Amino acid sequence: VSHYLTDTFNRQHDYLRISITERCNLRCLYCMPEEGIELSPSTHLLTTEEIIRIARLFVSQGVRKIRLTGGEPSVRRDLVDIVSALHEIPGLDEICITSNGLALHRKLPKLAMNGLTALNLSLDTLVDGKFQMITRRNGLSAVLRSLETALKLGLPKVKLNVVVMSGVNEEEVLSFVKMTKDYPLEVRFIEYMPFGGNKWSGDKMVTYEDMLSNIEVVYPEVTRLKHKPGDTAKVYQIPGFRGKIGFITSMTENFCSTCTRLRITSDGNLKVCLFGNEEVSLRDLMREGVSDSELLEAIGKAVKLKKEKHAGLGELENMPNRPMILIGG
Ligand code: GTP
Ligand code: 5AD
Ligand code: SF4
Repeated sequence: VSHYLTDTFNRQHDYLRISITERCNLRCLYCMPEEGIELSPSTHLLTTEEIIRIARLFVSQGVRKIRLTGGEPSVRRDLVDIVSALHEIPGLDEICITSNGLALHRKLPKLAMNGLTALNLSLDTLVDGKFQMITRRNGLSAVLRSLETALKLGLPKVKLNVVVMSGVNEEEVLSFVKMTKDYPLEVRFIEYMPFGGNKWSGDKMVTYEDMLSNIEVVYPEVTRLKHKPGDTAKVYQIPGFRGKIGFITSMTENFCSTCTRLRITSDGNLKVCLFGNEEVSLRDLMREGVSDSELLEAIGKAVKLKKEKHAGLGELENMPNRPMILIGG
């Protein structure tokens, strides 16, 4: 990895998350305010060419994994084109998407054929009424259809993201664990994080410790697997089950010291930390006509501003940040 992508704590960034739209077909309560968000004029968003230019540049500096996020990436009509253009970049090993799965199942075969290597689906409940409550829309069966399609297609990696909230879906953790008995899935339970407009509160958050101890009551044999460097999740397995479970412990045990991730917002800012406001507009630079080496200088400067870790419980909820929908996770 080049010095441009190495920060002052010697973290080398080889994973880029690109938000390709700020639109979404759901309204999840942990992600955005009920009234939705004000959308940027479309000219503020990156074009496909700009996205691919950024991707190439980062791959030339050692990025090996790109994840497309949103909003909801499938809302962008050229999603398949973006994936196939990424697939042509030599040196890029993993092309991933994080999606809510609502409108994805028909696009999945094409995505798989065009180089998609991994899919993370956001699904927080297996109960219809709760799905409606959390997402403020209908569509559980459509999401399950996407999940089924992804498993049938045999995508190398399929994960489910479950944001666990107390009084909402906490009691469904075991139902999600059970899904890993027969399916080669990784279900990840995520600690609820505060973002602009999501009405987070400490008592709605369920901690890693609580989730794990509830699982251990029923599955005392649950075993921790070796941690992969840079992985957001602490991964476990119930011996004999085909799938795995993971915990994303952003709030109680941050994993900032091994962070390998950089982000591009849909309006073209490089955001060096999920919780940091150090942003630089690559879009404006590109539209001013700068060269790749000038872009790299600007990227290098922003990366050097990355802090050692996020501010932590007690501080984060008072810090200004974009709503999650504008960051893409
Ligand atoms: P994999 O590549 O499959 O490991 O996925 P991922 O965890 O990198 O990405 P995904 O989009 O599935 O995000 C899952 C959860 O992890 C979301 O709640 C993200 O907000 C959170 N997450 C991803 N990257 C970071 C990070 O750098 N810091 C923190 N605190 N959380 C992150
Ligand atoms: N806290 C934790 N995870 C969140 N996600 C969205 N909002 C939050 C939040 N407030 C997760 C979703 C999605 C991923 C990109 O981020 O589960 O899968
Ligand atoms: Fe949409 Fe995903 Fe945000 Fe839910 S979490 S509102 S599905 S972008």
